Amino acid sequence: MNEPAIERILFTEEQIDQRVRQVAADISAKYSGRELKLIGVLKGSVFFLTALAREITVPTRLDFLAISSFANQRGGPGMVRIAKDLDDSIEGDDVILVEDIVDTGFTTRYLLQHLAGRGPNSLALCTLLDRTPRRIVQVPVDFRCFEIPDRFVVGFGLDHKQLYRNLKYIAVLNLDEARVRGDPRGPGGPPH
Ligand code: IMP
Ligand code: MG
Repeated sequence: MNEPAIERILFTEEQIDQRVRQVAADISAKYSGRELKLIGVLKGSVFFLTALAREITVPTRLDFLAISSFANQRGGPGMVRIAKDLDDSIEGDDVILVEDIVDTGFTTRYLLQHLAGRGPNSLALCTLLDRTPRRIVQVPVDFRCFEIPDRFVVGFGLDHKQLYRNLKYIAVLNLDEARVRGDPRGPGGPPH
């Protein structure tokens, strides 16, 4: 590993692979006999969603949405807006929203409300990472791969300023190093 901003690896490629298989087996068992729709949130959840979908054994459709978040003026939890909506209706579908990380919970709560308003038959939440110490609004997490401590993490889809998504592992990022080295957009905080 030749990346000074990576402080420590939290989950290796093998650990992620193993846990994704377990969660996919749980999902396949729960949705046995039904068809499933996985909804991914661009871009962070794409790596997780494709890994998960490959291991799910019930008939599965995929759709994606993209969001933009804006920090509010006091630097508190931001507002979320749909930047790209779903391609297809989810009315009557058994839907799982697939997230990279649930942090404060604001983004996920907004998305769950948005999707619930479109009449799915059922709606569940599956997240790669769950950082409960920072939770502000409660969201029901139905499936989760890992709980993580209150540190900024990157890899397997998670970014810092759009970098590091393609790492095969999940790691704690040293934000000071990340700002000093190779950061094309200069200083700035994480999208917390
Ligand atoms: P929430 O609305 O506070 O739950 O924030 C969720 C969003 O913030 C996630 O979808 C990520 O895009 C981003 N985020 C939160 N924590 C991290 C992190 O540790 N690394 C990378 N992105 C993060
Ligand atoms: Mg991000």
